[in-house]
Amino acid sequence: MIKVGVIGAIGKMGAQVVKAVIEDKELELCCAVDKFRIGENVYQEIAIEGDIKKALELNKPDIVVDFTQPSTIFDNIQIYLDTKTKAVIGTTGLSNMQLQEIEKKSKETSVGIIIAPNFSIGAILMMKFAAMASKYFSNAEIIEFHHNQKKDAPSGTSIKTAQLMIQNNDNFKLGNCAETETIKGARGGNYEEDNKGNIQIHAVRMPGFVASQEVIFGADGQILKIHHDTINRECYMSGVILAIKHLYKNNNFIYGLENIL
Ligand SMILES: NC(=O)c1ccc[n+]([C@@H]2O[C@H](COP(=O)([O-])OP(=O)(O)OC[C@H]3O[C@@H](n4cnc5c(N)ncnc54)[C@H](O)[C@@H]3O)[C@@H](O)[C@H]2O)c1
Repeated sequence: MIKVGVIGAIGKMGAQVVKAVIEDKELELCCAVDKFRIGENVYQEIAIEGDIKKALELNKPDIVVDFTQPSTIFDNIQIYLDTKTKAVIGTTGLSNMQLQEIEKKSKETSVGIIIAPNFSIGAILMMKFAAMASKYFSNAEIIEFHHNQKKDAPSGTSIKTAQLMIQNNDNFKLGNCAETETIKGARGGNYEEDNKGNIQIHAVRMPGFVASQEVIFGADGQILKIHHDTINRECYMSGVILAIKHLYKNNNFIYGLENIL
């Protein structure tokens, strides 16, 4: 049995992970951590603990799954690396610099870390299709839609999509005229790497959405739209379980679920 700890265990994603781990015959829920409802049982005798480091030292999970919040995820990962606990990270909001630092430390310490901005197969395919289409279109923008409790913008998925698209095309604003925003932010945020890319990302936040994304490509006389909708959070669980099982047998650093599919 693989001993799994869930960090952020009573959150929207964490609660789904707790359920998915309990239901999987190869996994055993060994601890659950959150900032709230400490002491309450989430499953049988597993009570919510409030201190990540203490919970890891006490319960010694083989792997933790972290769905917490962008403001603490970098510090949480330092704890996983320091305590030599392999970790599957779903929490978004890490900067490129932080990702590089985590990759370096993960390799130095041989503590496997999988970070995936999106665990759903449909979203992974959407990103792959968008990267593929980028070879053939010179103009593209991304619109991402989420519920209004999401703390970071734009989404980790939209950033990852832009990163994959840029690998196939380094200027998406071919032919655009000089632009002036009458209302600041009207054109969204510009994603670029070393002055390359130029992909506008627009973030919509409102009740009703779980997570959706549309990548729009334009050329003379035609528009291509690649759209993905997340209907509920169960769609992420097969990806999370796959990541846990992959990491149990490996010690590498992986960014993006597509690398283990
Ligand atoms: N990778 C993916 O496929 C994917 C999918 C959906 C959401 N997310 C991301 O996952 C994260 C969580 O999303 P959510 O909707 O479940 O949020 P949420 O607010 O419902 O849950 C977060 C939980 O983490 C707890 N928490 C926060 N900081 C903590 C800490 N330092 N220690 C312990 N517990 C802590 C909170 O109390 C809360 O219960 C967000 O960054 C979100 O963008 C990723």
